Amino acid sequence: MSIKNLLTDTGAQLLNSLPSYREQDVFSLSMKLRAEGYDPQLISEALTQARLRQKATAKFGDDASHLIFTADGIEQATRKEVATIHAKHFIDAHCSHILDFGCGIGADSFSFASHGLAVTSIEIDDDAAAAASFNLSLYSSATVIHDDANNVDLAATGADAIWIDPARRRNGKRIKDPEQWYPSFSHTLELATQFNAAGIKVAPGIDYSLLPRHCHVQWISVNGDLVEAVIWLGNASPRPGRSALIIKNGIEHQFDSGYEDPRIPSIELEPRELGTFIFEPDPAVIRSGSISALAKKYGLAPVSNRIAYMTGDCPIDAPEISCFKVETVIDLNPKALRKELNSRGIGRVEIKKRGTDVVPEELRKKLKLNPKHPGSATIIATPLLGKHRAVLAHRQ
Ligand SMILES: C[S@@+](CC[C@H](N)C(=O)[O-])C[C@H]1O[C@@H](n2cnc3c(N)ncnc32)[C@H](O)[C@@H]1O
Repeated sequence: MSIKNLLTDTGAQLLNSLPSYREQDVFSLSMKLRAEGYDPQLISEALTQARLRQKATAKFGDDASHLIFTADGIEQATRKEVATIHAKHFIDAHCSHILDFGCGIGADSFSFASHGLAVTSIEIDDDAAAAASFNLSLYSSATVIHDDANNVDLAATGADAIWIDPARRRNGKRIKDPEQWYPSFSHTLELATQFNAAGIKVAPGIDYSLLPRHCHVQWISVNGDLVEAVIWLGNASPRPGRSALIIKNGIEHQFDSGYEDPRIPSIELEPRELGTFIFEPDPAVIRSGSISALAKKYGLAPVSNRIAYMTGDCPIDAPEISCFKVETVIDLNPKALRKELNSRGIGRVEIKKRGTDVVPEELRKKLKLNPKHPGSATIIATPLLGKHRAVLAHRQ
């Protein structure tokens, strides 16, 4: 695919004339466009772009209809509401010009520019750089450089902050070793030292021991899905430590781990017998090692050693934790569960698990739920003080 063809007058005219993408219309539409005299290659590229735009609405909403994407670029791009958080973070740190080292199709850069920040965006890949140039063309404060950023005089750009979102996938596969990211993790840390402020997007599973002493790391979840972690350095680090940023229905909530050194492992808590309620902390709270702060705040304890389900005797209504009222505890076997669900008239279940090898969809099949039963419940498969059990509960 070549983005450049789509950026010609004819390419843009064709792309903008296309109706909403529907797989079943592709054949008849391309026949019609050929009859109108369009080049078959350009038609194919325009239809691919229409498909990518449709896919991109999940991350970019209505903006997707006027941006240009590459298939890889969509996968790697930061979704709009999270890119907005990055931009606001730099603004709060009084930064004015961001260097985006490896901007991809420019989702983060677009957010920086649309929030009034100047941005210099560098991208090595031909198509991604062409897409970024198009996507940022609206903003006079944005400059896109198509080059290996290691060949660019970064200081000469005048940027006071650097944003680095390293490529963490190759050939569709996730790269686990941070030193194999592109640029490598150690290189991102070295680049960060050259600026007053820096943000480095990393995998949520980043090992605490790799973190620099004075950084602040923020784990971000959106509506219960853990999406990323960001290492903030220099002026962009509000204080050394770790925290969770939980976005629920567009509203942001912060939860601090209480650790002043981001590298300190979280302490193991003593488990307690299951009480009236069982709780599931938000994944950003879990990954940021904020469980002990959560336990302290609400008087909770884990249900078993090294298990993130917590228990307590009072209900909690807070964005950082989901609350379930315990109905009963059953042996973790499908037959016992099926009997219990039938006797309670339960026909719909949500299945959660931690610390067991239960596969929720396989368990669901074995439960043979009766759709005529009106009741619903949550099954939480977990060790309770070391014994594998199914907790039948109701979401509060
Ligand atoms: C994860 S993507 C960035 C996605 C971007 N933040 C967004 O939201 O759209 C990482 C990008 O860095 C680029 N990259 C990696 N090393 C680079 C380098 N040395 N110079 C320029 N670009 C580089 C890759 O080609 C890739 O497109």
